[in-house]
Amino acid sequence: MVSFIFSLLPLFFFIMFLIYKTWNQAKHYTKIPSGRMGLPWIGETIGFYRAQRSNQLFENFFQPRINKHGKIFKTKLMGSPTVVVNGAAANKFFMSNEFKLVISSWPTSSVELMGKNSIMEKQGDSHRCLRGIIASTLSPTGLPTMVPRMCRLIRKHLMKNWGQRDEMISLHRSTKVLTFAIVLECLFGIRIDADTMFGVFENVLEGVMAAPINLPGTKFSSAKKARAKIQKALVDEVQKKKEAMEAGGRDEDDAMLLSNLVAALIRGEVTEDEVVDNIVLLVFAAHDTTSYAITMMFKMLANHPDCYTLLLKEHEDIAITKRREEDLTLEDVKKMEYTWQVARETMRLCPPIFGSFRKATADIEFEGFIIPKGWKVLWTAYGTHYNEEYFPDPMSFNPSRFADPVQAYAFIPFGGGPRLCAGYQLAKLNILVFMHYVVTRYDWSLVYPDEPVVMDPLPFPSKGMPIKISPKHGY
Ligand code: HEM
Repeated sequence: MVSFIFSLLPLFFFIMFLIYKTWNQAKHYTKIPSGRMGLPWIGETIGFYRAQRSNQLFENFFQPRINKHGKIFKTKLMGSPTVVVNGAAANKFFMSNEFKLVISSWPTSSVELMGKNSIMEKQGDSHRCLRGIIASTLSPTGLPTMVPRMCRLIRKHLMKNWGQRDEMISLHRSTKVLTFAIVLECLFGIRIDADTMFGVFENVLEGVMAAPINLPGTKFSSAKKARAKIQKALVDEVQKKKEAMEAGGRDEDDAMLLSNLVAALIRGEVTEDEVVDNIVLLVFAAHDTTSYAITMMFKMLANHPDCYTLLLKEHEDIAITKRREEDLTLEDVKKMEYTWQVARETMRLCPPIFGSFRKATADIEFEGFIIPKGWKVLWTAYGTHYNEEYFPDPMSFNPSRFADPVQAYAFIPFGGGPRLCAGYQLAKLNILVFMHYVVTRYDWSLVYPDEPVVMDPLPFPSKGMPIKISPKHGY
């Protein structure tokens, strides 16, 4: 009898194990955030894209779901179960747990076109190494030499494209072309034919969010061809720089990012592919973001003349201390405090990047919910930027709110944690120096004060934000 009972023991333990597993799974599933998974595979992608296209993601996609399910909700986007998280605590948790619990997650076409060796695909030590090289160029020792370079480039751009007559120009296109030249010349120290290369880079950008189908005639295939052209031009640049550096040649571009990357290449810390892929990535990361921030600042200033008066005074006070073609210094730029408040308030209301996807590398517990391993997490800037808990009267434009400190992880146009925007300092300089030269040299007005913004995949003014300009007396 005893031996019969003993022979049943394995069965008993097996049944107990099954009961425990089922109970544990049930516990897990009850804690997954609520929300709708929509249609099979496609989920709620169509509603998401429709809202994104018309720049109504907050109003038509996030807000209704937050109202119904709470600030952490589930959905399914582009085939992936996704948890959307909102709020400063969630931003802090998911941004600072990069590499530990989550990793950034980009569509296949973006990775193929930016390059598998770009910083956005890197983790751990190789990520840290690349960030260190970028940071060394944008450090307190690198920035003071960058300011005069940027001043000269911006003045040259305005002289060539804005001119001395009353004209109408597309502000968005002008700032895109300018940002492109700034990244290549002022950050990298690369002097390639910017006018021709700009078009080629734009071709690549058109394929970044397209389906990764490499067949003749598809957006992705022409983007791949354009990418190959860029690859060739940049490999030539890298090799020229390497030969010059190995021969001991020194030039004025020595402290710039291309030299710093090539120095790391010579030391064997990075590969040639890493150098090229990261030049491409940085150009793209800067391109639509900075130009959108600048164009929306003009829109906000046009609609808030009191703010414009304050901003203009700040720049006139700086200009009065300068000779006509004298460059600004980093000290001058530091005086542009109100302009930076205007820029931040603009990016709060109109974030150039509305949020970003991560992938859970383990089951994650957060605020009583479980996010299963493999699911996507989407943090959004709207979740805090438009929330009165962090910004009283959130939909009104009030730059002076940034005179006071803001709660950590509530204002996140540049992201946060280890993936905080690596070009933050460059973007800030670009915005402030450009504003200085435009407002001190031109009167301007918007052609379409109510011009709608659309997104594809990043936001931009639908008509390119044309402005009427007229040079001020003396310029
Ligand atoms: C107003 C302008 C800009 C905005 C709003 C912006 C915003 C952002 C945001 C939100 C992220 C984080 C993305 C994530 O967490 O997945 C990011 C990352 C990044 N940004 Fe920017 N950016 C701007 C300009 C620039 C510029 C000028 C550069 C360089 C020239 C740049 C280079 C990068 C890079 C390399 C990363 C990836 C960092 C990493 O993965 O470690 N950005 N940016």
